[in-house]
Amino acid sequence: MRVVLTGASGLVGSNVVAALKRRDDDVTVLSRRPEKARERLGVDAQGWDPNAGAAPAAALAGADAVIHLAGEPVAQRWTEASKRRIRDSRVHGTRNLVAGIRAAEPGPRALVSASAVGYYGPRGDEEIGESEPPGDDFLAAACREWEAAAAEAAADGVRVVTVRTGVVLDPAGGALAKMLPPFKLGIGGPVAGGKQWLPWIHVDDVVGIYLAALDGESWSGPVNAAAPAPATNAEFSKALGRALHRPAFAPVPGFALKVLYGDMAQIVTTGQRVVPKRPLALGYAFQHPALDEALRSALG
Ligand SMILES: NC(=O)c1ccc[n+]([C@@H]2O[C@H](COP(=O)([O-])OP(=O)(O)OC[C@H]3O[C@@H](n4cnc5c(N)ncnc54)[C@H](OP(=O)(O)O)[C@@H]3O)[C@@H](O)[C@H]2O)c1
Repeated sequence: MRVVLTGASGLVGSNVVAALKRRDDDVTVLSRRPEKARERLGVDAQGWDPNAGAAPAAALAGADAVIHLAGEPVAQRWTEASKRRIRDSRVHGTRNLVAGIRAAEPGPRALVSASAVGYYGPRGDEEIGESEPPGDDFLAAACREWEAAAAEAAADGVRVVTVRTGVVLDPAGGALAKMLPPFKLGIGGPVAGGKQWLPWIHVDDVVGIYLAALDGESWSGPVNAAAPAPATNAEFSKALGRALHRPAFAPVPGFALKVLYGDMAQIVTTGQRVVPKRPLALGYAFQHPALDEALRSALG
């Protein structure tokens, strides 16, 4: 299979590229820094900034599928400027990718595009499947526009899957890397009371879901990429403490995170009990369905 990826130099993308290489797929990466991507990933890389204009049709022509992961990091202090970059890099970036897909001859037949569980906004204890409506905060609005931009490709007969991803467990990056230092020191613990849900997923299963979405002709529309057994923030903290053999009782007040990260703190002070209804219905078998084992595996 010939696959073109954007955002491949990141946490999810580098793992997806490694899996595609293992199965001998032909991989091309579109990156803002193609030399670095080529060197790091060991695949063909071509230059494209998602914010700058249409993706290069020549690089997309003849590809079977596109995996779209590019976007400004969400886990940073939210200011008006960073929020604009987070939203625009995804919404305009995806529109620019779809413009390139439209111009490619022959064009790819499938687009698997990242999204996030933030689509649903802060929720209570109810289980959240893919048919739930979006939330109405900044992140939910950005995810809704991001998914709508990807869905435009369907008008040209492209099979579109949007992967609403939870917190990816990888010590090399993302939320787990940020949580590890205090937990290793034994001063980690539940955040903002700990009752809110934390939809986690092992990196192997994120990769597994992206590959299943790539290959499965019956996969289309939104899919939740979160483990079948989400944990509350307090349960997650305890499990992380167990995995590290450290106490994990020190409560972290929500306002402390708000001081550090601004409104971005809401990603951990609130949450959603997201369940992967569509992947399970489509026959996806999770490699790491249980939190304790998933954390032990992720932490090596
Ligand atoms: N990791 C998670 O827990 C998680 C959870 C939910 C959703 N997601 C979503 O899944 C996707 C992949 O996640 P990830 O953790 O692998 O992301 P990541 O490590 O932050 O990498 C994303 C890639 O996007 C490109 N990029 C960065 N800033 C950009 C900007 N301002 N404009 C355009 N492109 C930019 C970079 O690629 P180049 O430098 O090569 O261009 C970067 O490697 C993201 O869209 C993310 O929002 C991730």
